[in-house]
Amino acid sequence: MSWLVTGGAGFIGSALCHYLAEATDDRIVVIDKLTYAGNRQSLSSLEMDGRLELIQADITDFPMMTEIVEKSAPRSIFHLAAETHVDRSIDGPANFVSTNVAGTCAMLEAARNYHSGLADSAKDAFRFVHVSTDEVFGSLGDTGTFSETTPYAPSSPYSASKAGADHLVRAWFNTYGLPVIVSNCSNNYGLRQFPEKLIPLMILKCLSGQSLPVYGQGLNVRDWLHADDHARALLLMAQKGEPGETYCVGGGAERTNIWIVETICRLMDERYPENAPHNRLIEYVDDRPGHDYRYAIDATKINMSLGWAPSRDFEAGLAETVDWYLSNEQWWKPLQDRVYAGERLGSGT
Ligand SMILES: NC(=O)c1ccc[n+]([C@@H]2O[C@H](COP(=O)([O-])OP(=O)(O)OC[C@H]3O[C@@H](n4cnc5c(N)ncnc54)[C@H](O)[C@@H]3O)[C@@H](O)[C@H]2O)c1
Repeated sequence: MSWLVTGGAGFIGSALCHYLAEATDDRIVVIDKLTYAGNRQSLSSLEMDGRLELIQADITDFPMMTEIVEKSAPRSIFHLAAETHVDRSIDGPANFVSTNVAGTCAMLEAARNYHSGLADSAKDAFRFVHVSTDEVFGSLGDTGTFSETTPYAPSSPYSASKAGADHLVRAWFNTYGLPVIVSNCSNNYGLRQFPEKLIPLMILKCLSGQSLPVYGQGLNVRDWLHADDHARALLLMAQKGEPGETYCVGGGAERTNIWIVETICRLMDERYPENAPHNRLIEYVDDRPGHDYRYAIDATKINMSLGWAPSRDFEAGLAETVDWYLSNEQWWKPLQDRVYAGERLGSGT
């Protein structure tokens, strides 16, 4: 049997594929459209080992999804394919609705058809693990945390499209009995993240001596989760998670954006002293429209029911991430040249 991973050529999807290859003996089939955010290089070692098959396809293509799901005969599906950058959703929301909402609907229908034809033991073991975000809950003030019972209040076109997808996923459980699981996780960091997101963007801008744009006052808070810890949580959900349940997954590492940028500057000072101090490059710019102030996760439920807790120390993980970008220019340079050179996105004008 196999694991089917949508969006496997993206940041978290590729971390999940590497983890599945390490932790299980099953084959991995990836469905990925290879949009600007998908990178085949992130999976090349697994493809070369014959552990993984990458199928380039669009999740909104329902007949194609039906065919791939039937042929790959997965024990479970991990659904990660999505348009994911909040700033791009401000500039062009339509793709987000198409992929995140209509694409999720196509995956659910393909999964439902497949699941209904399974023998009893495979049917009982099957899970559709939908990877969502804590952004569906909106914004916190200075105190409190999100949990599985927090009402939805998305702010951006991105988080609204993810919220729409989450509601569809739960409807497929309530209406059709498809054994779904929803994971709402906090901001991920780690290796192979497309350099439009805060951490890799700042590392690469430090490296080229460009200014480091910090939105507003830099005081927005995110709860950082290593993608490898997240991958471990997702496999546990597929193996032991209760159908119909939601799990909130957080790294327990709340930091302001300015703390992240200052820390990256310090790490870069140690590695590139000739350009130090890098924090002279910090430039405060207009805030993102509708910018949520703070996210933080209460991960008690997944801890108590599945025995999961984050294992990575944030400072050490951040230093490892900086080192990975410094020694993997062949991974990110073509993206800068062909796809995204670091310009401001999502100003809303
Ligand atoms: N990165 C985070 O901090 C974070 C936090 C919470 C939740 N999530 C969720 O986790 C999932 C993965 O996020 P990521 O950061 O790895 O994203 P990513 O942007 O790095 O990767 C997304 C992948 O989906 C693929 N894709 C996009 N549209 C597609 C389509 N129509 N058909 C098939 N493939 C398509 C892309 O090619 C890419 O490989 C997403 O669902 C996202 O909403 C991410």
